[in-house]
Amino acid sequence: MVTTGGDAPGMNAAIRGVVRIASSKKFRVLGFRRGWEGLITNSFTPLIPRSVGGILQLGGTMLHTSRCPEFEKKKGVRKVTQTLASNQIDGLVVIGGNGSFNGALELSAQTDTLIVGIPASIDNDVFGTEETIGFDTAVNTAVAEIDKIRDTAVSQERVFIIEVMGRERGFLALEIGLTVGAEIILLPEVAYRKEKLFETVRENRAKGKKSGLIVAAEGIGDTRVLAGQIQRNTQTEVRLSIIGYAQRGGNPTARSRLLASLFADRAVELLSEEEGNKVVGLQNSRIVSVDLEKSCRTEKTLDQNLLRLAKLLAT
Ligand code: F6P
Repeated sequence: MVTTGGDAPGMNAAIRGVVRIASSKKFRVLGFRRGWEGLITNSFTPLIPRSVGGILQLGGTMLHTSRCPEFEKKKGVRKVTQTLASNQIDGLVVIGGNGSFNGALELSAQTDTLIVGIPASIDNDVFGTEETIGFDTAVNTAVAEIDKIRDTAVSQERVFIIEVMGRERGFLALEIGLTVGAEIILLPEVAYRKEKLFETVRENRAKGKKSGLIVAAEGIGDTRVLAGQIQRNTQTEVRLSIIGYAQRGGNPTARSRLLASLFADRAVELLSEEEGNKVVGLQNSRIVSVDLEKSCRTEKTLDQNLLRLAKLLAT
């Protein structure tokens, strides 16, 4: 097992699940350290049910993680295949996001080890699952912060731009924006005209909404510049708040823990049935699996219904 890429709250719950469920099936489990780096350098720790006691409620990952440029080169992938072979590893559980699964797909072409992906990322951008581990926690963390910012916005009659994470995708921003009641949500997937944006801010003021929240995904571009432009073009006091890495940390919500445990269960089941090159997921309240290649090659789309609803509720 390995956790790779950006950490997400609930990764520890997934580690715990994999270890305990696999041990119950008499598998031996090794946890590789610091993402793909641990598989390149053959750095691992054997994990038994007792090794994962007390981690269920903790954010981050006890195995540590990293972004690993060496794994993006052929030589790095070759070293990983050597580690898998020398330790006689039959199955590899990769806990991570989109980037991690693209790496896993490259690797799958070079090894007989069965690979199963468990989607864990605050970005929720993995095709094949409606939700990734950590997403719900990140949404809740951001919502708690933004509710506080709303107090200042209302009291001082200001407009706030709040930048949230999500890399090039807007899944986080859309769900956060809808649940904080943002007046405007800016997403990389939805083109917007600056003039129209200024107009909406002016109109809101004219109809009595003296304060406002604009939730912007980090992928839309420079929010600092945008804040200045809105201020100049609407004669409104505008402030920017970038929530940043706090969204990635903290205790996983019950929902993220549950998802992690369910995903771990299916991942181990797949391996025990000798099925590999799969990614587990949640679809229509059921735990499913999709082909690793399909997950990597297909772009997940935004929920149009959420988009429609967010617009409707912001009036
Ligand atoms: O993929 C998770 C994420 O937190 C993104 O939302 C963000 O763009 C990125 O990771 C930040 O990456 P890093 O930790 O390498 O700065």
